[in-house]
Amino acid sequence: MVRASLAIAVMGLAGMASAQEGNATMGRQIAEEYCVSCHMVDPGGPFKQDPPSFAAIAIYRSPDQIRARIVQPIHADMPRYSEYMIGGNIDDMVAYIASLEE
Ligand code: HEC
Repeated sequence: MVRASLAIAVMGLAGMASAQEGNATMGRQIAEEYCVSCHMVDPGGPFKQDPPSFAAIAIYRSPDQIRARIVQPIHADMPRYSEYMIGGNIDDMVAYIASLEE
């Protein structure tokens, strides 16, 4: 029992330590759940315009710009995902989109 909760505590710390980096695998899972209805979220998506595929965004936006557009979406059609994509999840999403750049 004690061991199990220690392990969980250690995992929690590791998760916090890497929050700045962002976990691209987690970001992809979020993308497949919340973003795929509008965006192409797969690697190598065609350069779709409206809305752009994540692979295209990765090419023409820097990670900082991607972050800014998630926190403050520029288009009225895009729901305010930042309201539930709290903290580390935004890092994960930025990491995933940025990882699509070839
Ligand atoms: C209801 C449809 C919809 C959903 C769902 C959606 N988006 Fe978007 N998104 C858009 C549209 C439309 C644009 C284009 C805005 C523009 O360029 O004016 C956009 C643009 C963006 C951009 C900026 C692209 C650029 O040109 O810089 C990012 C980043 C982005 N979305 C991320 C996300 C993420 C992350 C999710 C999921 C958490 C998501 N979107 C879910 C519709 C959507």
